[in-house]
Amino acid sequence: MNALEATNLYFKRAVKLLQLDSKVERSLLIPFREIKVECTIPRDDGTLSSYVGFRVQHDNSRGPMKGGIRYHPEVELNEVNALAQLMTWKSAVANIPYGGAKGGIGCNPRDLSPTELERLTRVFTQKIHDVIGPNLDIPAPDMGTSAQTMAWILDEYSKFHGYTPGVVTGKPVDLGGSLGREAATGRGVLFATEALLKDHNLSIRDQSFVVQGFGNVGSWASKLIHEQGGKVKAVSDVTGAIKNNAGLDITALTDYVQKTGGVKGFQDAEALDPAALLSEDCDVLIPAALGGVLNAETAKDVRAKFIVEAANHPTDPVADEILEKRGVIILPDIYANCGGVTVSYFEWVQNIQGFPWEEEKVNSNLKKYMERAYTNIKELCNTHNCSPRMGAFTLGVHRVARATLLRGWEA
Ligand SMILES: NC(=O)c1ccc[n+]([C@@H]2O[C@H](COP(=O)([O-])OP(=O)(O)OC[C@H]3O[C@@H](n4cnc5c(N)ncnc54)[C@H](O)[C@@H]3O)[C@@H](O)[C@H]2O)c1
Repeated sequence: MNALEATNLYFKRAVKLLQLDSKVERSLLIPFREIKVECTIPRDDGTLSSYVGFRVQHDNSRGPMKGGIRYHPEVELNEVNALAQLMTWKSAVANIPYGGAKGGIGCNPRDLSPTELERLTRVFTQKIHDVIGPNLDIPAPDMGTSAQTMAWILDEYSKFHGYTPGVVTGKPVDLGGSLGREAATGRGVLFATEALLKDHNLSIRDQSFVVQGFGNVGSWASKLIHEQGGKVKAVSDVTGAIKNNAGLDITALTDYVQKTGGVKGFQDAEALDPAALLSEDCDVLIPAALGGVLNAETAKDVRAKFIVEAANHPTDPVADEILEKRGVIILPDIYANCGGVTVSYFEWVQNIQGFPWEEEKVNSNLKKYMERAYTNIKELCNTHNCSPRMGAFTLGVHRVARATLLRGWEA
């Protein structure tokens, strides 16, 4: 089942639990706007290359639409659609005043020089500048894009509309980016995990963790868990997997990864078969790399009691059912990784007010938002006697449906 089919399945289950009218269901499912544009750029060698760019704006009933821009060879409309829809539910779960969007360009950023990437980003911005903006749709970095990409979008957009830092989030701090944004998704994963464990009368310091992926989200989550006294036993990335039953020294590992580019070969650990990582004995498993890694094949071997979905869509619906039957508790992606979009919202607030926050204010507000969302999800789990995933989906869909109905359809 692909990401769009899985998202639609959970959406439909939420609609059923909430007993929503079929007309509201249809209105929530169809994207507000789908944009497909041609982006042709001169390459450094003087030849021309053409790419296709997308922006799907899913829903704006709760506020301007919000979502990342991805540069990847496999960017296609169906997946962008699923990710845009997920952003709508995620923003509503976090209770930030945004709808959902997602975009991307079908290209391999590794094959493009920095000047070619800049030209491509500017051409894409020229094609969509009329339908993005701080009150319309606010892009952010995603796979293959970065703070630098956002700086180019800001600059190109500002040529048409005047200086507008709030048009994008995830910018460099020098251009109005927020302190704490880089760590935000990993920090959100920590706060979500703390809330979950507290609910089960447990704490980070008496639990062991396995983390798949040691990039932005996985490394920040590992570092913060380590600082709270949690034992991170095993981690993996694209170079390999490592484990130390006594707990990895995450500070030393972070330095090592910065120097070597990967976790493979870290001295105070033994090498582990990356395929065996997900079935390592631990209390909490944190997939923080790819989608679909927990599937019918891998789910039956998982030994963790809790799964915190730091990555987007790491568990497919078949695995979800297997794990639920086995009593494994899963904190779903639309809650567990919403720390990034929540701090993006704080960044936008700072841009609109022209008044930057101290990092401590960013982090303490993030904690408040993550704890409140956990409590709200639990309330819906209790009302509908459902899993945290369906608690989160019903929470998100309910909030968006309520805003849609309040705004009405009068032409
Ligand atoms: N960065 C954010 O703010 C953010 C927000 C929400 C969700 N996410 C999701 O979190 C996940 C990770 O994002 P990120 O920003 O950390 O990306 P990243 O590119 O910084 O890191 C990805 C990590 O996964 C590793 N990896 C790739 N293939 C792997 C494999 N086969 N096995 C094990 N590890 C592998 C890479 O080596 C890298 O360490 C993605 O699913 C992303 O959509 C990220």
